[in-house]
Amino acid sequence: MDIPKAYKIDALIHQNTYLVEGQLKHWNGEMSEVYSTISSTSDYKPTHLGTVPNLSEKEALEALDSACSAYANGQGLWPTMKVEDRIACMEKFVSQMKTKRDEVVKLLMWEIGKTLADSQKEFDRTVDYIYDTIEEYKQIDRDSAKFEKYDGVYAHIRRGPLGVVLCLGPYNYPLNETFCLLIPALIMGNTAIFKPAKYGVLLITPLMEAFENSFPKGVVNVIFGRGRVLATPIMASGKIDMLALIGNSTSANALQESHPRKNRLRLVLGLEAKNPAIILPDADLDLTITECISGTLSFNGQRCTALKIIYAHENVVEQFNKRFAKQVDTLQFGNPWDEGVKLTPLPEAGKTEYIQELIDDAIQKGAKVINERGGETYENFIFPAVLYPVTKDMRVYKEEQFGPVIPIMAFKDIDQPLDDMAESNYGQQVSVFGKDTKKLAPLIDTLVNLVCRVNLNSSCQRGPDVYPFTGRKDSAFSTLSVHDALRSFSIRTFVASKDNDYNNDIIKDLLDKKTSNFISTDYIL
Ligand code: G3H
Repeated sequence: MDIPKAYKIDALIHQNTYLVEGQLKHWNGEMSEVYSTISSTSDYKPTHLGTVPNLSEKEALEALDSACSAYANGQGLWPTMKVEDRIACMEKFVSQMKTKRDEVVKLLMWEIGKTLADSQKEFDRTVDYIYDTIEEYKQIDRDSAKFEKYDGVYAHIRRGPLGVVLCLGPYNYPLNETFCLLIPALIMGNTAIFKPAKYGVLLITPLMEAFENSFPKGVVNVIFGRGRVLATPIMASGKIDMLALIGNSTSANALQESHPRKNRLRLVLGLEAKNPAIILPDADLDLTITECISGTLSFNGQRCTALKIIYAHENVVEQFNKRFAKQVDTLQFGNPWDEGVKLTPLPEAGKTEYIQELIDDAIQKGAKVINERGGETYENFIFPAVLYPVTKDMRVYKEEQFGPVIPIMAFKDIDQPLDDMAESNYGQQVSVFGKDTKKLAPLIDTLVNLVCRVNLNSSCQRGPDVYPFTGRKDSAFSTLSVHDALRSFSIRTFVASKDNDYNNDIIKDLLDKKTSNFISTDYIL
């Protein structure tokens, strides 16, 4: 087994602390073993990576108390702190985080099987996201460093925190997606309880000390264990002001249900999607195939933005299928650090079996696997199967596969994919391949109302992170982007004063003496 020295697992990682009250607390209780589905030996065997705490309800509530005390109903040090001081804490955190790149990247590869290049990208993109968030927050702050006047009333309007946030991220982007929730939530003055995803947990270990020493006591609390054991009692306390979750709607719904004060709870959710590709008769097939390969199979299709169903016009479907299937078969499967690797081990136990079930169900209902290698099974992987013709009664049409299987349907009339999208519970993005503007114009005008991003001749994706990332129906709640996330994790709040000498003297005095952190017209540079 040829594992480059830099990526070998030399020692087990025992993450035996959790963060509450600003301190890494040692955990002596039950631990969970962490295994990688990547083998270190030529006889296949999952690799033992280490252990993480299996905390109980008691520690979950301890973390909740810690976050609530730090927020202190909006009177805590953090929510009332000067914007520039919060920014300084975040800068301290990110500068330490940058020093942990190699460790985090290595764990991203082992824990979730992401390729070296994509793992590096995930890390770097997250660091950039933090810096961009800091800059954007400065801009928001500068924009509100003023008084407005309407109808004889002055208003000093800013964005303020909402309270205590429970933050839960997904395993496919255990660093990036989680931090895209946590970082804006914190910088806006909220306090947070963060539980890492089910895979990609150990990669938080190298960052624990930076969390501990960068923020005031109780602002960030990091707990490890099962979602049901930890998140449910936290929600049931009724003390959570925001649920920030990227994952599936079943857990999002269950968690919302357990919160007794529904209108107190704000939501930032990124949920399932079944983004379609629509290939029109005049599409440039070379370009379409390249984009559909990356759209369906980057990170083995384990992306919420992945293309999860392809609609090809009947005039081009045969040619598309032939060339697409051939290209899928050329993709290299291997370990994340292998050169040229595109397909990598699946981190979830039972995932290959699930994908096989989808394939079997489709075959039984009339589809064929049209690529030679489709369904080849390894201990920790199943080679992507291209399925055609797929019909609406098949599971692969209805379920979000989140893995390497590609359903293709042919269409004659554009209303077919449009009706299917309208009927679907999801509404994140779509990719449209074609050139004729007479056809594209009305199509675009409809699609923008069915989803939240129409990708013209390119696959679906979240980035660049400055653009809005959201979805309709069951795909999302609230909008994320560098700018929008800061809005989503805050609320407009203001001081109003009637224009009279009595009030104006008070406001002037507040501004001159700089005694309030809220009332300030200072510009942060
Ligand atoms: O899993 C969903 C991610 O937000 C997708 O992000 O399009 O950059 O891979 P991406």
